Amino acid sequence: MTGMITVWADHDLGVINPNIYGSFAEHLGRCVYGGLWVGPESQVPNDEGLRTAAVEALRAMRLPILRWPGGCFADDYHWEWGVGAERRSRRNLWWTQPETNEFGTNEFLRLCAAVGCEPYLCVNVGSGTVEEAVNWMEYCNSAQDSRYANLRRTHGHREPYGVRYWGVGNENWGCGGSMTGQQYAYECRKYATFMRKLGVDVEGGVKLVAAGHGNDDAWDAEMFRYLHGSFHNLDAVSIHRYSFAGSWEHKAETLDPTAEHFYRLMGDVVGMEERVRRARALVEYYSPPGHPLELFMDEWGTWYRDTEEGLFQQAPLKDGLFAAAALNMFNRHSPVLAMTSTAQTANVLQALLLTRGSETVLTPTYHAYEMMKGHQGATLLASRASSSNLADSDGREYEALSLSASRSEDGQTLTLSVVNLSCEQDCATEIMLRGVDAIQGATARILTAESTATANDFEDGERVKPQAVPVAAGLPSFAHTFPAHSLTVIEIAL
Ligand code: AHR
Repeated sequence: MTGMITVWADHDLGVINPNIYGSFAEHLGRCVYGGLWVGPESQVPNDEGLRTAAVEALRAMRLPILRWPGGCFADDYHWEWGVGAERRSRRNLWWTQPETNEFGTNEFLRLCAAVGCEPYLCVNVGSGTVEEAVNWMEYCNSAQDSRYANLRRTHGHREPYGVRYWGVGNENWGCGGSMTGQQYAYECRKYATFMRKLGVDVEGGVKLVAAGHGNDDAWDAEMFRYLHGSFHNLDAVSIHRYSFAGSWEHKAETLDPTAEHFYRLMGDVVGMEERVRRARALVEYYSPPGHPLELFMDEWGTWYRDTEEGLFQQAPLKDGLFAAAALNMFNRHSPVLAMTSTAQTANVLQALLLTRGSETVLTPTYHAYEMMKGHQGATLLASRASSSNLADSDGREYEALSLSASRSEDGQTLTLSVVNLSCEQDCATEIMLRGVDAIQGATARILTAESTATANDFEDGERVKPQAVPVAAGLPSFAHTFPAHSLTVIEIAL
């Protein structure tokens, strides 16, 4: 197969919000307990309870934002359960595992500080109150002499944390209360009014995020309609989108390592983009004058099966390529699409990290994020890739080459991330750089393996990891072959 890539380096399309490269951690399975948090008494190397290897890995991939505590868990979580010296065990309604509350607000905020990312808290709308939500904001952010700010101080945290990102509920159409779009909109209007007021405690204000649906247009349309008039109190609307490479009922089949399933999974980037487009149209239409709303997708990723092990699943190479193609697509929807997070950070669904006892393994999804981190905060450039058309068994058609290109903030580096979505064929490609006067050199790294089903596990170690490959970048164009089922990131020094 042959291909052609053109990048117009003098055609800027806006800044790629770093938060597109976010993650989501819920009290589900071993994401938090046993994954990110092992406790200070553990034999596993830790920093006051935080798994050292996880902190280091998330720092190295430059994780920009982490959403917590759910997910479905958020709408039955009462934050006061998880602060102070007395932490009693409580229920975990949705995921039925014991909840010790050892890991609460201060532990989460310490994790974010250690990783160097923004915290994004999701308040309880389904079974909580507005009062509980604003008390949480006061606890985290207030510098006043007031009850919850003082409670934080008695817990050893003198200075306010300045938490900026606050989600108003989670999937309130489902586990968050089975609400109609109208019902949720009424709740959200109320929460946002009070939360906006407390937002002044943070310099620059807080970002309040309404919880949309993403897979039900009628529900979303109703929510937007009844939120109308209160969007000045909100900053973003989030949607969710999971990929089964088929239907919810038949998702187990997607474990199948055949080419057909690979193409269906990759075809779902097309499906996701359609959801992004629809939600984006609503967000843009309903933005009040002078207050452009942002679109978030704060849960997405592959979902292969429901297991008794708390949604643990392997994340093979195909997940890494799916993540890379999705990130390319997300980059292209910047800056309206301002935040996304894969579900979830460790040991759950499309995880970045897998842990077993004291071992930690980086998944191909992790490597895709790490390899593409150069796009964070960079300027998206106009680009086009043409090669062969692929199609999945659902009739979705897409280009074999998925691409995005950006120029770093300091103007010194041009980053090209290219996924060859063909399972079988390499793609000999001519890369044309327009609007570039001179280049100082280039490096490239590739993520691939013999099969799209190859994974990193505890027995065989990291079989899928980035490798440096030679690239002969030149002007005005140069040739490069992208192997079948691979992600290549080329960084050109300007
Ligand atoms: O990520 C797992 C679950 O998927 C989340 O708790 C929920 O929000 C979604 O349905």
